[in-house]
Amino acid sequence: MTDVNEQWSARTRAIVAGRPHESDGPMNTPLVPVSTLGLGYAREDGTPTWAAFEDAVGELEGGTATAFASGIATASAVLDSLPAGARVAVPGDSYTGTRALFEHAETGGRIRVETLPPTDTDAWVAAAARCALLWLESPTNPSMEVMDVAAIAAAAKDGGQRPLVVVDNTFATPLGQQPLTLGADVVVHSATKFLGGHSDLLLGVAVTADGDLTERLRRARTLIGATPGALEAFLALRGVRTLPVRYTEASTTAALLADRLAGHVAVRRVRYPGSGAMLAFDLPDADTADRVCARLRLIRHATSLGGVETTVERRAARGGDAHVAPGLLRLSVGLEAPEDLWRDLERALHSVE
Ligand SMILES: Cc1ncc(COP(=O)(O)O)c(C=O)c1O
Repeated sequence: MTDVNEQWSARTRAIVAGRPHESDGPMNTPLVPVSTLGLGYAREDGTPTWAAFEDAVGELEGGTATAFASGIATASAVLDSLPAGARVAVPGDSYTGTRALFEHAETGGRIRVETLPPTDTDAWVAAAARCALLWLESPTNPSMEVMDVAAIAAAAKDGGQRPLVVVDNTFATPLGQQPLTLGADVVVHSATKFLGGHSDLLLGVAVTADGDLTERLRRARTLIGATPGALEAFLALRGVRTLPVRYTEASTTAALLADRLAGHVAVRRVRYPGSGAMLAFDLPDADTADRVCARLRLIRHATSLGGVETTVERRAARGGDAHVAPGLLRLSVGLEAPEDLWRDLERALHSVE
């Protein structure tokens, strides 16, 4: 692989990392659909395509990356590395699928789960003294709460239990925040979202600067078989190449939309942390929010997020999110012209004024 100069900006490193360096070789790491590599076996030893994707993400997050079949497969591998009966803290407002996985593990008697308010840093600091894993998500999905990762990670290092601090960085991306530099042990992504960036794959990744943790995660991947597909890793690497420019562009548009939404008479509250492509806003009730979704023409009413296309979803309509305000709409901002997006939103909002 090509050597990456640490002084290069993320934008440059996203282009260079994970690329073959032979001058007369292929420009890209080929898509290698393979199970057997001589005496090596892909589930145990990885493949060149996974490795290229892992190099690029590791470079952006500042550690060694391990790719998994999905974001949830990544979380499963982290759980798998815990001792039986471990106490785990998770934010009350975090992705429903992650909380469902933890509840499933608790029902099976494998872990004990504590659900904490994401912004109550004192509660997280206190939990550091009794938990084996602090699972953070920041900003949270869908309420866009921002957690104090540095303070919680510092408490985890001080406390006797020394819990593992894991941050789901799916919303912020490594361009918005690098949790390992804030003291986290592991950063995880649903690469399905912004890393892949085109709504055409399912993939997950975990990054850590701790060699033992990398070993444990890779062993978990091997044991539970949570392995990525070759095409998925290939496409996601292609997505990573443009992540910095996509992120910058979408952030600018998201900030503009957040600002205009905040000034709109129909909007009760805008939740935007100041950077990134995700935002949420509150309409008075479920019915109003549903009518706005139905009136949008350009913005797709669809689940998931992180693609080049702008999507909107009323998360409370999906169930499993009892705490989410019924009129909250989550917007994943893509790469369309900002004024076209605003015109679409304004027209739809006008119908409920
Ligand atoms: C913040 C966050 N983490 C994890 C996941 C799970 O990822 P996947 O669907 O790739 O398993 C999602 C999916 O929506 C998510 O939004």
